[in-house]
Amino acid sequence: MQSLKKRILIIGACGQIGTELTERLRQQYAPHKVIASDIREGDEALMNSGPFEVLDAMNYDALQDIVINYEITEVYLMAAMLSATAEKFPMKAWNLNMNSLFNVLNLAKEGKIEKVFWPSSIAVFGKTTPKQDTPQRTIMEPSTVYGISKQTGERWCEYYFNKYGVDVRSIRYPGLISYKTLPGGGTTDYAVDIYHKALKHQKYICFLEKDTELPMMYMDDAIAATIGIMEAKKEDIKIRSAYNLAAMSFDPETIASSIRNHIPKFSISYEPDFRQEIANSWPQSIDDTEAREDWGWEHKVSLEEMTEKMIQALRKQYKNT
Ligand code: SER
Repeated sequence: MQSLKKRILIIGACGQIGTELTERLRQQYAPHKVIASDIREGDEALMNSGPFEVLDAMNYDALQDIVINYEITEVYLMAAMLSATAEKFPMKAWNLNMNSLFNVLNLAKEGKIEKVFWPSSIAVFGKTTPKQDTPQRTIMEPSTVYGISKQTGERWCEYYFNKYGVDVRSIRYPGLISYKTLPGGGTTDYAVDIYHKALKHQKYICFLEKDTELPMMYMDDAIAATIGIMEAKKEDIKIRSAYNLAAMSFDPETIASSIRNHIPKFSISYEPDFRQEIANSWPQSIDDTEAREDWGWEHKVSLEEMTEKMIQALRKQYKNT
């Protein structure tokens, strides 16, 4: 019965994660059961593959109208301002990241939706956090606006679960790498841009130092984790703040050398900017034992496999343009 009446709303469907999440959920369920929404329209493929609504995630009434009109049962809230942009617009980032979350949590509290996915991030950690194999529970003193909003969001998710029984589920995404949609305004964005520049110019100027190691993940794994945690049995979700999640860790020098296996002429140089300080405050690797044990998370794609997939896909994209 559950799946018969399941209707999903994706907020921020035109972003880096939202685009692929929408596509995957529409393959998995009937396309008309997956409503995409964003502050503006997205690319043709997304717009033509199922229902779409223009929605400002901070507008509670507009959100509620969509939820009621489409009889939405689950919301994936993917709209957010990422770490680098948030440093430039702190209040705008805070308002967007927090108000959109409260809007969705309050709809769930009022019984208008059954389940919520909200992404957290490795940005919840800070300089005082152990950097290697960062545990699920540890010191968390985030120093970025984005990290503060994500950590606060985690606290509120847990609060809404404990106080109001809201079925909210969350993971701490590492840096995400994909070829379909560009990321916007993050500190880990270099790991996407590097592939584009490798194919276009065989060289890349990196805004992080060569030995800045960060946790990363290929988008297919991130989407599998997202749908995986949402489909897990309610009683298996034991952490209601957000789960640590890991796949691989690398620094710019290492990703560059994996690209060189395919494009031998590729060269990289380094011009660190303000994002270096953000990266320095984040963990280098993550212990995600609890996600693996509680709801069966498993990553599949390694750095070498990811590089192969990225280069193959982007080569095709650039040939066709
Ligand atoms: N990828 C994000 C960023 O760089 C972290 O969650 O902001």
